[in-house]
Amino acid sequence: MILILCANAGVDRTYSVPEFSAGHYHRPEHVLVAAGGKGVNVARVLVSLGQSATVAGFAGGRSGSFAAADMRSAGIRTSLTQIREEPRTTISIIDPRNRRITRLDEAGPLVSPNEIETLRRQWIAALPGAELAVISGNPPRGVPRGLYAHFLQYAARENVPTALDAHEDFLQESLVGHPQLLKPNLRELSWLAKRPLDVPDGVVSFSRELLRQGVGTVLATLGKQGAILVGREGPALLVTAPEMEMVNSVGAGDASLAGFLAAWQEGHPLAERARWAMAAGAANCAALSAASCTRERLEELLPRVTVEPLE
Ligand SMILES: Nc1ncnc2c1ncn2[C@@H]1O[C@H](COP(=O)(O)OP(=O)(O)OP(=O)(O)O)[C@@H](O)[C@H]1O
Ligand SMILES: [Mg+2]
Repeated sequence: MILILCANAGVDRTYSVPEFSAGHYHRPEHVLVAAGGKGVNVARVLVSLGQSATVAGFAGGRSGSFAAADMRSAGIRTSLTQIREEPRTTISIIDPRNRRITRLDEAGPLVSPNEIETLRRQWIAALPGAELAVISGNPPRGVPRGLYAHFLQYAARENVPTALDAHEDFLQESLVGHPQLLKPNLRELSWLAKRPLDVPDGVVSFSRELLRQGVGTVLATLGKQGAILVGREGPALLVTAPEMEMVNSVGAGDASLAGFLAAWQEGHPLAERARWAMAAGAANCAALSAASCTRERLEELLPRVTVEPLE
């Protein structure tokens, strides 16, 4: 089982609106309503690739109950902490004709110290059953910056390998938890480096710096350009993404993280994990709903990913 912390899980509403423009009346062509949040996306793709996934996080009010029920109907197990406030709703308006996405991201609930303590206990209780532990996305308001580092350390104590995908302060402060896998995109990595990183040299040299700080492997994703993988052994690898007719890029990074983790669970070496990550990320972009990548789609795309050494 792969345990995933999705501290800011909520409800995602996706509308397909050709020629969407602000200030006008529109009737959406399609409406999708589902549990969302980065960790939920990761879990969804893991389950569709045949893995068992448990989402830990907060769930409050009626939207929280909806999100929990929707996760379970997708085959995701849940270990959720009840909270007083409602989770956030995120709205994505896709304009398929002009290939534009408009997003409204609510701030999410304010969680209390007691609620955080309950989450901490649930995380520790779930770890012994986990083969991998993943932290995906920044948490809602009220969560102290150091919490993720502690969560990574609890996993390490149980010998459960960890993966982290967060941004800005939560990314920075979590590094002392020494995640085995870090999955930043170029913007997040540059923020961490405090300078714009060029591709590939800047990305490779800063990733090596992170390895010296105790990170196991860096998978830096670069949108349609693919990704750079830097591990402790062997040269850095440039991995390309198959060219796709882009429909919805929301969740591409989450799908790529799930692809990497699924390959890891199946015992594949690093280069193959990166290949799975690229195929899953690309599959995600070609569908309207976030976090969509079937096993068949993955297998179809894998031969179109190239992996080449950079050094
Ligand atoms: N336009 C695209 N065409 C093909 N594949 C893509 C495209 N955009 C993203 N991908 C795939 O998805 C992966 C992750 O994309 P990206 O680097 O944009 O992640 P991210 O910024 O973390 O996304 P997220 O919004 O989910 O956090 C890429 O490495 C690639 O495999
Ligand atoms: Mg991302």
